[in-house]
Amino acid sequence: MTIIILDFGSQYTQLIAKTVRKLERHAIVQPHDYEPRERVDAIIISGGPQTVKDPDSLRPHPLLFPFCEYHKIPILGVCYGFQLMMHHYGGMVHQGGGAEYGYTTLNTIESKLFREIASYRVWSSHRDVVIRFPAGFKQIGFNARGDCIAVEHTTLPFAGIQYHPEVQHSACNAIAYFLDNIAHIPKLWTIGTIHEDIQYLMHTIKKDDHVICALSGGVDSTVTAAIIHQYIGERLHCVLVDNGLLRRDEARHIIAQYKNMGLNVVCIDHKEEMLKALKGITDPEEKRKIIGREFIKVFHKFAQTLDVDVKWLAQGTIYSDVIESGGTKNSHTIKSHHNIGGLLDNLGFQIIEPLRHIFKDEVRSYARHYLNIPNHLIVRQPFPGPGLAIRCPGEVTPEKLEIIRSADAILQEELMERPYLYNTIWQSFVILLPIYSVGVQGDQRSDKNCIVLRIVASQDAMTANWVPLESELLQHISTRITNEVSGVNRVLLDITNKPPSTIEWE
Ligand code: XMP
Repeated sequence: MTIIILDFGSQYTQLIAKTVRKLERHAIVQPHDYEPRERVDAIIISGGPQTVKDPDSLRPHPLLFPFCEYHKIPILGVCYGFQLMMHHYGGMVHQGGGAEYGYTTLNTIESKLFREIASYRVWSSHRDVVIRFPAGFKQIGFNARGDCIAVEHTTLPFAGIQYHPEVQHSACNAIAYFLDNIAHIPKLWTIGTIHEDIQYLMHTIKKDDHVICALSGGVDSTVTAAIIHQYIGERLHCVLVDNGLLRRDEARHIIAQYKNMGLNVVCIDHKEEMLKALKGITDPEEKRKIIGREFIKVFHKFAQTLDVDVKWLAQGTIYSDVIESGGTKNSHTIKSHHNIGGLLDNLGFQIIEPLRHIFKDEVRSYARHYLNIPNHLIVRQPFPGPGLAIRCPGEVTPEKLEIIRSADAILQEELMERPYLYNTIWQSFVILLPIYSVGVQGDQRSDKNCIVLRIVASQDAMTANWVPLESELLQHISTRITNEVSGVNRVLLDITNKPPSTIEWE
């Protein structure tokens, strides 16, 4: 869960962050840098020294309010943030006039934000006042003069306050009420507690221990390696297994990125062995287990090439992997995610999984807060350990993998050219169906392969919705695939959510 604090230059922004931090993870963002593209759990617009009466004053992105309205993202406006909200919805702000600095009284009425009638001593610091309130907003708090200093929307999760709840001297912490009563954000799990847990876990790696870590290019393994590297530096030995199931140019591309991050990493070519091990295998669970076993073989081989004893194997397992592999008390096994299923027997290493208890959005948020990882690696779409094998129902062959790689490269290229779209998508990939269909190409009958496009939005992979791309873009992608990928004459679109489907096909 993420809370964005839009910092309009209030001297109290850090205090807003402090209040939020006790409750949830957050990011402080400059208004110019914030374009509403991703759903977040709440937005707090800070105060600031400006006045909305000045047409050149600092404003939020013009789509901020419409985007939040559409996605029902809760917003709290504080002081200038409150005035911005009122101004946006057609209220009237009066410059000067009703200034208040220091203590004032807040008398609340029963509302979504405050819940009950009460009187508090709160702290104010403002010159401008709102003198006419826009339709749709209800007045819920008044000062001793009877001026309204708190509002909430009657149907949207929006609220605004004229005082500073974040300062220690304000007795009514409207930020906490907002997070509780309007945004409904749970209190217990914070980025700070995640950090504490990770630090605690890192202490189990002793001074002379060496760790190996398999990197896949995905955010989970990258973050895992970056965390451990921060603690033990060169005693972390990373390996990227080029298992023949990666996307086009992936191994070369990500090795270069990891080296830039200062990681001690090698790439091991295991393409032939992997394909041999998968020959003739059609059962998805068997595929996953074989791939897991092959990985372990490579890790062992890799560890033997090091002239140190390796005690630990670090893995980027996250909580959704644990749940989906039947790893929690109340969950069913949906799939054996390779980073758990294949590793259980006769393991020569102790496993360390710093991300085991957190979800992907939390992994990303942790990386942004605590690690020095380039943003493009953090926002990368996840890629499963068993790679393209689980996007190739039936037997995995080099010819089929080549078709998948070519079609996938087109899809990735088209979406990456549209970052506003790419960044809202959890995963986009293709599946090659194990059937031929009849087509007509160049006046001739063709019996060729079918490619399925799978494009989903999700927060944590536990549930996902298919993303309805614009039909023009779909047309374009489909035409490019059938023109450029030999062996394909049909492109299909998967329009199923998770549940009932899973994201991957196997
Ligand atoms: P499903 O298909 O279970 O996928 O809805 C949920 C998320 O997990 C990824 N996935 C895997 N990741 N090893 C991984 O590291 C695996 O075996 C595996 N299987 C699925 C999938 O890509 C999606 O993001």
